[in-house]
Amino acid sequence: MQVYYDKDCDLSLIKKRKVTIVGYGSQGHAHANNLKESGVKVTVGLRKGGASWDKAKKAGLTVKEVADAVKDADVVMMLIPDEMQPESYKREVEPNIKKGAALAFAHGFSIHYNQIVPRADLDVIMIAPKAPGHTVRSEFVKGGGILIWSRSTRMPPARRSKSPCPMLPPLVAAVPASSRPPSRTKPRPICSVNRPCSAAAPWNW
Ligand SMILES: NC(=O)c1ccc[n+]([C@@H]2O[C@H](COP(=O)([O-])OP(=O)(O)OC[C@H]3O[C@@H](n4cnc5c(N)ncnc54)[C@H](OP(=O)(O)O)[C@@H]3O)[C@@H](O)[C@H]2O)c1
Repeated sequence: MQVYYDKDCDLSLIKKRKVTIVGYGSQGHAHANNLKESGVKVTVGLRKGGASWDKAKKAGLTVKEVADAVKDADVVMMLIPDEMQPESYKREVEPNIKKGAALAFAHGFSIHYNQIVPRADLDVIMIAPKAPGHTVRSEFVKGGGILIWSRSTRMPPARRSKSPCPMLPPLVAAVPASSRPPSRTKPRPICSVNRPCSAAAPWNW
């Protein structure tokens, strides 16, 4: 098992990119605010009239409807409930996300069970925090972090960086999803979501 910490990552890579977080619930509010406070350009994609719209606005985030929010994004992180993701992806994300962008998930369900079959040009990554969203947020606020599992499901070798986790930046501790959790006696890693980033995959940025 390979564990990555902040020191292994180059945060400048994600700071050059635009990240859209779709959803502002448990995970969405944590990812969006942690990234924003880490200096990353973040837009939140939501449905107008939903309860989250005003909450995200009040937090000082840029909020747009999903189709609009994903248009300029280099990374789109799907943080709405798993059962809502296929329709949102098909109707709002796929027709609008730009070519070569990265599609990110915090759970493997949609991809593993083919609920979403991403467009061929998109990179697909997972950054799955091993904690509820409010803990992802509260640990970040305290200056700590949590463990995340990360996996690059689809990324052409030519686009991989030599850096172990360029985008894991602020991150974290990226652990291949197929590995077991680290020992409790070992130093506690911090999570990418905890810090600025929301991806844990090697990029050639
Ligand atoms: N919860 C966790 O601790 C946890 C841990 C690890 C991984 N995950 C994964 O993280 C992902 C998100 O889970 P979650 O628990 O954070 O979700 P959640 O809190 O239930 O998400 C609710 C948010 O999604 C928005 N939303 C729902 N349907 C939408 C739609 N069609 N279009 C736009 N926005 C919509 C809601 O907006 P409104 O206010 O408009 O309803 C709200 O902001 C899932 O893949 C889950 O498996 C979750």
